[in-house]
Amino acid sequence: VLKESTKEIIRSTAPVLEQEGERITSLFYKKMFQDHPELLNIFNQTNQKQGKQPRALAGTLYAAAVNIDRLESLLPAIRQIAHKHRSLNVKPEHYPIVGKYLLMAMREVLQDSPDIDDIIEAWEETYGVVAKVFIDTEAAMYAEAEEKIGGWRGFREFTVIKKEQESRVITSFYLKPADEGPLASFEPGQYISVQVMPDYSKPAHMRQYSLSDSPDKDYYRISVKKEEGMQGHEDGVVSNYLHEKIEAGDTLNLTAPAGSFTLKENSDRPLVLIAGGVGLTPLVSMLNTSSVRNPDRPVTFVAAAKSGELHAMDDHVRSMAEGSSSVRYAVCYETPSVEDRRHPNLLKEGLVDEELLSDAVPDKDAEYYFCGPVPFLRKVNGILRDWGIPESRINFEFFGPSQSI
Ligand code: HEM
Repeated sequence: VLKESTKEIIRSTAPVLEQEGERITSLFYKKMFQDHPELLNIFNQTNQKQGKQPRALAGTLYAAAVNIDRLESLLPAIRQIAHKHRSLNVKPEHYPIVGKYLLMAMREVLQDSPDIDDIIEAWEETYGVVAKVFIDTEAAMYAEAEEKIGGWRGFREFTVIKKEQESRVITSFYLKPADEGPLASFEPGQYISVQVMPDYSKPAHMRQYSLSDSPDKDYYRISVKKEEGMQGHEDGVVSNYLHEKIEAGDTLNLTAPAGSFTLKENSDRPLVLIAGGVGLTPLVSMLNTSSVRNPDRPVTFVAAAKSGELHAMDDHVRSMAEGSSSVRYAVCYETPSVEDRRHPNLLKEGLVDEELLSDAVPDKDAEYYFCGPVPFLRKVNGILRDWGIPESRINFEFFGPSQSI
């Protein structure tokens, strides 16, 4: 689809893009939000502040540039991003806006290159190709989400039917459609976006939360960690609003379930679910689902937390392990209290390491799913690679924009 000369320019300017990628995308967002403040309703302003989102966009364009001859190798990554876009209600008409400001920023940063016009033209063409792939992928996803029984497009109003504290910092919200219509099923591991307006004079905020219960219920459940600001960061705008202002009877706008970090149920191999902190939410959904649909499939659930008071859903997982011979449960506390040390499933004190996983996992020939903070993901991924687990059986999810581990 791309001319040979275009590809050549992309290949030769990709290293510059990598070096200057963050400057380009930071400039791009600044200008775009100046001219299109309505887009502030879609983008996560906290991720903008921390530079995470510009990095993710730069990373994708760079990957597209390097792989321009075989874009199909990027399809899993493209689908993951497209799920996120669909969940955020990104529309085809947004693509030319993003493209315009991206190219404008590139021109500004690369203005001293002698062949700047050719470079911009090549990137314009490439952006067009990549944007079309996204638009088409997302169109199919919107249609699928809408055509499902109980499905919908865009936002749907949900009523909070129950709020339940799960740990000192994690609270679950049980949600039912306000229109009392049917509720779309989902794949365990998927998430929804919640849109809130904590301050009516400011743009709306959207956040993604994993669905933390199985899909066979007549409600959705999300379990939200109250993000307390640390080291100069502000408190989490949305999580604090949900914890402090939203009560049973209030309503929230949700987009339909999305995401490609999902439980593959066509395997008989044992399942190993490894959770770091609030990363347990999609994994509890997987555990609950597997125990209903495939009760004999062996599941090992490993929960790592700072301590017992920060450990959510412990009673639930513990009672599942006590009630079923196919569920094993291992707990790892970084700094356990005296009482925490009496936890019957406590396997290790300190951080997750090879020793813990070796002790916890009875049969390494398993399917692995893990979710948690980046250092945790890196650690677990490294251990599984060392064990020789093939990539196809290693599944993990970032909370926040994807990064390289
Ligand atoms: C997220 C790439 C177009 C809005 C992302 C992510 C990537 C990406 C890599 C991070 C995904 C993740 O967190 O897993 C791209 C590319 C585009 C494109 C390559 C064009 C070809 C758009 C457009 C919009 C948009 C047109 C809407 C105006 C967003 C938003 C997020 C996102 C709001 C989430 C950001 C956050 O939560 O901080 N995109 N995107 N993107 N994208 Fe795009």
